[in-house]
Amino acid sequence: MKILGIESSCDETSVAVVENGFKVLSNVIFSQAAMHAKTGGVVPEVAAREHTEQILPVIQKALKDAKCKIENIDAIAVAYGPGLISSLLVGVTAANVMAMVHNKPLIGVRHILGHVYAPFLEVKSAPQFPILTLSVSGGHNELYLLRGHFEYSILGETVDDAAGEAFDKVARMLGLPYPGGPVIEALAKKGNPEAHPFPKARFDDPERLDFSFSGLKTALQYFLEKRAKSRKKVTPKEKADIAASFQHAVTEALTENLMEALKRNKDVKEVHLTGGVSANMYLRGVLEKKLKMFQKETGRKFTFRVPAKLSYCTDNGAMIAGAAFFQHKSDPKKYREWKFVDAVAEFDM
Ligand code: KG4
Ligand code: ZN
Repeated sequence: MKILGIESSCDETSVAVVENGFKVLSNVIFSQAAMHAKTGGVVPEVAAREHTEQILPVIQKALKDAKCKIENIDAIAVAYGPGLISSLLVGVTAANVMAMVHNKPLIGVRHILGHVYAPFLEVKSAPQFPILTLSVSGGHNELYLLRGHFEYSILGETVDDAAGEAFDKVARMLGLPYPGGPVIEALAKKGNPEAHPFPKARFDDPERLDFSFSGLKTALQYFLEKRAKSRKKVTPKEKADIAASFQHAVTEALTENLMEALKRNKDVKEVHLTGGVSANMYLRGVLEKKLKMFQKETGRKFTFRVPAKLSYCTDNGAMIAGAAFFQHKSDPKKYREWKFVDAVAEFDM
């Protein structure tokens, strides 16, 4: 089954063709990041206009790269939220029109579940359930326990900022461009991760494995304000130390919860790290080390996966087409009848 997946929830216009949830035939991504770097973040109206300009050429290129004609496509999938409503509307409208004109089933996919299915793309052997998935992005941050396709519980989520959002805000505070994640990662390579022991968030309910990054951001803000008052300029070395210490604090918060979830769920067969922040090599390295140590100490066996390519970490059409396949397989009737109005009713504002 070949599915054409459309993603337009934030600042990437992306369309892909994926066969049976795993095989990526094409994945075209038009990123607006350079444009939003000028304004230090995504301006929704600018993003929507850009999606409108790019959506048709990106669809055409995705079909061409996949060596497909629209007749060879079995279904159209689209991310319907959460995200920026004006951006989502472009993808959802395009998908709806294509489905109607070409008489194809239309499958609406929750953007966040698209990220959960990114590590399934291009795998050699099908992932085995139960899977513990840490999804870390700019707009969301959750820890899932998946017992089967679309059968999951959320063990923890962010109570304020998502980790990627914190990367973007801290980058802005340091005078670095948007998106903050990759620039902080590059700067952190020259810094000491233990230079600043930033505070850890505390929670009332020990059962939940939630995340919070606003305290970390505020601590950093106070530190920079104090420096500004003392009229002592932050040196390049200090900037690198701040970047490294911040990245380290985020990594510890994310990996500690994941390790705790792993201890509590003894039957987990796979651990997945996904979302835009999963492109971060420091986070990947620390997590991999902790998982290896845990396997050695407990004798437990599980597979660790990240998306097969960096382009499947950040927003992309392939993850939407991939998730759509398993969603459709798990309940074909429901997803065949999904309509444009369902998307509009379910938009997360
Ligand atoms: O998944 P994504 O493309 O969009 C959302 O669904 O939000 O994630 C974008 C986020 C941005 O906040 C960006 O700064 C972050 O992912 N990101 C990174 C890295 N690459 C992207 N964060 C840390 N390290 C990276 N290398
Ligand atoms: Zn995303």
